[in-house]
Amino acid sequence: MLETALTHTLKIRYPIFQAPMAGGPTTPDLIAAVSNAGGLGNLGAGYLTPEQLRTAIQEIRKRTDRPFGVNLFVPEEPTELEEMINQMTDYLNFYREELGIAQNPLIQKSSEAFEEQVQVLLDEKVPVFSFTFGIPPQEVIQTMKQNGTVVIGTATTVEEAKQLEAVGVDVIVAQGSEAGGHRGTFLKSVTQSLVGTLALVPQVVDHVSIPVIAAGGIMDGRGLVASLSLGASAVQMGTAFLACPESGAHTVYKQKILLENEDSTEVTCAYSGKAARGIRTEFMNDMHHYSGKIPGYPIRNSLTRDIRQAAAKANNPEYMSLWAGQGLRLATDHTAAKIVEQTMDQARAAAIRVSLLGIIDD
Ligand SMILES: Cc1cc2nc3c(=O)[nH]c(=O)nc-3n(C[C@H](O)[C@H](O)[C@H](O)COP(=O)(O)O)c2cc1C
Repeated sequence: MLETALTHTLKIRYPIFQAPMAGGPTTPDLIAAVSNAGGLGNLGAGYLTPEQLRTAIQEIRKRTDRPFGVNLFVPEEPTELEEMINQMTDYLNFYREELGIAQNPLIQKSSEAFEEQVQVLLDEKVPVFSFTFGIPPQEVIQTMKQNGTVVIGTATTVEEAKQLEAVGVDVIVAQGSEAGGHRGTFLKSVTQSLVGTLALVPQVVDHVSIPVIAAGGIMDGRGLVASLSLGASAVQMGTAFLACPESGAHTVYKQKILLENEDSTEVTCAYSGKAARGIRTEFMNDMHHYSGKIPGYPIRNSLTRDIRQAAAKANNPEYMSLWAGQGLRLATDHTAAKIVEQTMDQARAAAIRVSLLGIIDD
């Protein structure tokens, strides 16, 4: 039940993707638990070195023989002016003093080694490759497909989805504005591309002829059935898995996920220079008062890295990035397998409820 053409293609039982979440949450344990339970676990590998990536894939394979996916960031060239970076470094020294760490740290400006990361995925013949933040070179998409890998791109508007289909991706993730984490937007500005999942999914479905995965604010079986009704072939759930025991999220981050509500998040550039939805923090609020310009991604991400890491060490959530979507009140600390099972049980109940409505109307 609830099988779709996509679940057949990917050889998974249920149309449930655990979202790739770079920065630690998507451990091999989490990915394998979701894949073993019948969904598709996904590794958020955007920040991993090629060596770390290879090890993580090997660790996943030790835990499951089911399909899984790996997600990378399409690289962006840093374009910031030295002066803007220096000004920001000065400003951020206040937080460094608070946390008792060194001022004016050396900033690593180079972006992650995308080509080497891609090579690891090719060597390891991963079943699914997804990406966000743009479109990788055509050659990468074609080589992956020839290697037997299913390729998935991320869109936040219909126009982005059409471009992704035109370059040959197999599947599209339609990321609604409710979604936790970074926006995958790559054509217009983020403010012009904040379209809710309920509005985005059917419009993308109508304008492409490849399968669409709904993402953003989907936390349970009700969201799954709603998404399938909109024409999606599966859902991608991130926030729903953040607080489960297999997630690698920091303990205080997990606590915040379980405590906070639908109105606790905001889309911010404060941490990484790229718009992302996360739980409101003191750092985010403070940055509203910064009068200069915040450097863009990935420079900004490097500029705040030492602060986020020191805050995590000190168990201080207020200076950490706590990416989360608007479905927060529905988050649980159940195991990953239970979340998958419960989502399917709720989906069956929701599907019956919806079909009974039809009978009553008749
Ligand atoms: C902590 C966190 C990290 C994320 N990291 C990534 C990532 O590395 N790559 C990606 O494509 N999407 C990433 N996302 C976005 C998810 O793929 C997905 O769009 C989102 O989780 C869906 O919304 P939800 O959190 O409301 O379920 C991340 C989301 C969260 C919450």
